[in-house]
Amino acid sequence: PSLNRRQFVGGLGIAAIGLGLPRLGNPAAAATMQQLTAIPGEAHLLEPGQPATRIWSYDGLSPGPILRVRQGEELAVRLRNDLPQPTTLHWHGIRIDNAMDGVAGLTQEAVPPGESFDYRFRVPDAGTFWYHPHNRSWEQVARGLYGLLIVDEREPNQHFDRDIAIVADDWRLGDDGQIDEASFGRMMDWSHAGRLGNTLTLNGRDMLETQVTQGERLRLRLCNTCTARILELRIEDHVVWLMAEDGQPVAPRELTDGYIRLSPGERADLLIDMDLGPGNTAAITEVSRGQRLVAGRLVYHPTARLTRAAPLPTPPHPLPANPLPAQLDLASAQAVDLLMEGGAMGNLAQAVHKGEAMDIRRLVSNGLVWSFNGVAGMAEAPLFSAARGRTVTMDLRNDTRWPHAIHLHGHHVRVIERNGKAGSSDAWKDTVLVDPLERAKIAFVADNPGKWMIHCHMLEHQAAGMATWFTVE
Ligand code: C2O
Ligand code: CU
Repeated sequence: PSLNRRQFVGGLGIAAIGLGLPRLGNPAAAATMQQLTAIPGEAHLLEPGQPATRIWSYDGLSPGPILRVRQGEELAVRLRNDLPQPTTLHWHGIRIDNAMDGVAGLTQEAVPPGESFDYRFRVPDAGTFWYHPHNRSWEQVARGLYGLLIVDEREPNQHFDRDIAIVADDWRLGDDGQIDEASFGRMMDWSHAGRLGNTLTLNGRDMLETQVTQGERLRLRLCNTCTARILELRIEDHVVWLMAEDGQPVAPRELTDGYIRLSPGERADLLIDMDLGPGNTAAITEVSRGQRLVAGRLVYHPTARLTRAAPLPTPPHPLPANPLPAQLDLASAQAVDLLMEGGAMGNLAQAVHKGEAMDIRRLVSNGLVWSFNGVAGMAEAPLFSAARGRTVTMDLRNDTRWPHAIHLHGHHVRVIERNGKAGSSDAWKDTVLVDPLERAKIAFVADNPGKWMIHCHMLEHQAAGMATWFTVE
């Protein structure tokens, strides 16, 4: 019996999905549920010959599998929890349906060991996003639970020859190559910069090697999944264009000296023309430790070269815009303050926790050292409520000696002022780094109904008090 054409085409379609090949998008169709299992595993973070590290993973991998979907389509993921702890999935940077935001205790209950939870949502924006747990994230992310969610533009992008994702993490390992578990929850870290690591990995390797070809035009998607470390990465010997920040396209600009500073949670999409000759190597370096650390290498194919029809225009064409709110109405905006206090060398004497005023000693005995507007940790009531469609401005005032990466859920924001000076950036951010004693004013349209968190993405700071929420009604 021979297959008729319809069966043949159907069979191919299934095979294509199974192989993770691009499928033809049907925006109206419900997506097929894919499963992601959070489960203990092992990773070979260190060079060959070194012991494997026991980690927590998605499907045995850290970074977890890259989830990929086309803009406007639906993503359906069944989280299966095979960890010894309750967990959730949060879709960082996705302007998502609130019920799918994955915040334990706010938008859902954490998923107990042995159980599952189905996430199903549409993705409005193309770009580079990521997923991670939102329950004890300071521990779960540090153990290796995170992965990229890449949303492809509606039209395949002709400008790039290749798309390379690089997820950067900073592990704290003991001499035995295992995660230093004794340091989880240490107030010494929580009250300072957070739990910094001692081993930097790119895509789960302490020395990433990626082959490139002369003449290739790369789209490099960088994501900082460190719980605390602000990374300063550089692609050596190349001109590097910044194309998108936190998933959202910007007017392309050349990076000064090729450096990109990324706080925990932030992403950057870069464009690089590989214009060294065959046989060359370009280092990917990181300098946040005060010395230049080689974290990876782009190794040119020894002989191959690709000839491009036309040189790169300067600046390059921007990525297609996402459907962000058209207009910020600053004249009649709702103004909100967010004062950050506490931490080592700070002057936090007391704060309210769960409705009770506590002095610093009591706060510390509850694991708290930071506050937003005098409140430490999640409160019963939201920080503010905004009417749907209203523009909100927030004055982020860092009255501490430490930088903080302020992350808002469900929305992207524009930085309109830094230290009183009007901002020049056109970026729409979901995570905004505010340096010690700095002040940043952000604005956004509260257009996504629900309960949304605001917290520091130095995850130890979040756990130690820098967490609040707002509602859009
Ligand atoms: Cu990436 Cu509230 O988190
Ligand atoms: Cu912080």
